[in-house]
This record gives sequence, C-alpha cells and structure tokens, in this order.
Amino acid sequence: MKNIKAIIFDAYGTLFDVNSAAEKCKDKIGNKWEDFANYWRTNQLEYTWLRSLMNRHKDFWKITEDSLDKSMKTFQIEISMKNELLDLYKKLSTFSEVKDVLNKLKEKNYKLAILSNGTPALLDKLVKSNNLDNVFDDIFSIEEVGIYKPNSKVYDLPVNKYQIQKNEIAFLSANSWDVSGGGNYGYKAVWVNRNNNVFDKLDYQPKKEIKHLAELLDLIK
Ligand code: LAC
Repeated sequence: MKNIKAIIFDAYGTLFDVNSAAEKCKDKIGNKWEDFANYWRTNQLEYTWLRSLMNRHKDFWKITEDSLDKSMKTFQIEISMKNELLDLYKKLSTFSEVKDVLNKLKEKNYKLAILSNGTPALLDKLVKSNNLDNVFDDIFSIEEVGIYKPNSKVYDLPVNKYQIQKNEIAFLSANSWDVSGGGNYGYKAVWVNRNNNVFDKLDYQPKKEIKHLAELLDLIK
C-alpha cells in the first residue's frame, strides 16, 4: 500500500482481546465462557448500532455494562461476578504481536492512532495498562461526535485532525463491519481476520486481508 500517511487502528478486537476478560474467569464460568464472551460482545455492538439509530446515545462503558447484565442473565452467571468481569474489561490484554508491531511502526514516519467506540477514559486506561502510552499520536473516541461506528462522522475525525486525504489512511480492524464502514468511507481498510471468518457483503472488499498485525509491516513500505 502506497502513499500512506496515517495508520489508524480499531481498538476492541483488533489491538485488545475482548474475550480476555471472560477467559480470565473461565475456572468460575466453566466451558461456556467463550460462548458467553461472544454473546456479550455481539450484544454490546448491537446496542451501539441500535442506540445510534434510535438517537439515544449512551457511552460505551454503560453499554458494556448493560450488555453484560443481559448476557449474565442469559448464561445464568452468578451476579457476584459482574464487578470482576467489568474490572477485567478495563484492563484487556493486547493480542501477542501488538506491542512489537506498534514499536516497529513508531520508528517509521507515520501518524499512529486509535479510532474507537470506547470513551476517552476507557481507552486511556487500556493503553496505559498495556504500556502503550508513548506509541500513539492520538486516541480518537466517538464521544467527540456522539454517535457510534460506522457513522461517517467517526471516520472523519482523523481526516480532519491530520488534514490528509481519506485514502492516505490505512485503517486496520478485525471487525469486518468496521472495515466495510471505513472502506466505504474512503480509507484503505485492511481486515485483520484472526479467526478465518467470511467477509461481509456491504459494498466494500478489504484492500488487504491479514491474519495478524505483524503482516502489516510487509504491507506498509
Ligand atoms: C471499537 C470497537 C468497534 O474499538 O471494537 O471501536
């Protein structure tokens, strides 16, 4: 990919492993931990889209808690686990390759940023708890525009801040719908397909598909 000036990362699912909170409790939750984690994530995202469509914004932390309440009821998980799961969600781990890749990109001359549904406070904590505070030029939160991805106002944020063209941005997301959102908007959107999934039919095919972020180093030259 040529003429890239900024590399923008989605946060949840792309840099940070959203399943890691439930995984750390798998002794208590049992075998259903992964189905529970996926259900929680799916409901969390659905709430972002539904609230955007209903024009009833609530921040991502509250939505994370609301969707957890529903998921715990559905999977009959002891209510006493709620605070533990929420605390773990504030300190999600990165995927294993992330730190090394970001540090290598940092040596090159790109703007590096996060563009996420998360609140500024949540993202700040996540970045700090993973010792990534010195890596990013910016952490863009949808709270600045008050509506969730994939609304185009969200994807406008880095374009406006850096005063660059949409296609000078490489956008990395593991969430296929976010790749469709950013790609249809005009970014060079790359799908981080960690789990061998099938891509969406939403008018955009990813510029590139990679299995993990380390492959990005070969794409960006
Ligand atoms: C985010 C969600 C989409 O970080 O994962 O914006």
